[in-house]
Amino acid sequence: MNNQFLLNNLRCIPDWPIKGVNFRDVTTLFKSAECIRIITDELYDLYKDKGITKIVGIESRGFVMSSAAAIRLGAGIVLCRKPGKLPCETIQMSYAKEYGIDTIEIHKDSITEDDVILLHDDLLATGGTMKAACDLVRKFHPKKVYCNFIIELQSEFPNARDIFDDDIEVTSLL
Ligand code: PRP
Ligand code: ADE
Ligand code: MG
Repeated sequence: MNNQFLLNNLRCIPDWPIKGVNFRDVTTLFKSAECIRIITDELYDLYKDKGITKIVGIESRGFVMSSAAAIRLGAGIVLCRKPGKLPCETIQMSYAKEYGIDTIEIHKDSITEDDVILLHDDLLATGGTMKAACDLVRKFHPKKVYCNFIIELQSEFPNARDIFDDDIEVTSLL
């Protein structure tokens, strides 16, 4: 019921940004107060008992719900950014995604071994972006790593979850 409401509010744009990509436009979820409430509640229910200390939000669409979830879960937020945006020392990783290649980076002092990390992004397609973010986060040896997406394109990328190590618990809302 809630998920159907989210799906009804999700806009799809064929052949954008390149031919053959059916682009899921989450801006139509983010402009709806009711969608924000549903997503925040679902994230809270999924992770309230996990002891999450920091949410790693992935630039840029991953930032939005990371922030709402962090407030509800009482966690901090770490920004995983596209290159050249973070001012202090970083570690970087390059990766392939559905429509091109990219790099993300994270501050070297952002995570400790005591942290329980929830990585969040809006969408899982090939998994390239989240795999790179997981690999970066694991360099800090946190206690545990969870991954969440609002949307998982399971029918288009049925093997995307296989890219993640077995001890990383992956969830998606849609
Ligand atoms: C999109 C989306 C995910 C990623 C998913 O981000 O927001 O982060 O691609 O693709 P993948 O699973 O194939 O890696 P994009 O890089 O387009 O940037 P944005 O979030 O800044 O819009
Ligand atoms: N990122 C990668 N593939 C995507 C898609 N099909 N829609 C929206 N964001 C994406
Ligand atoms: Mg993104």
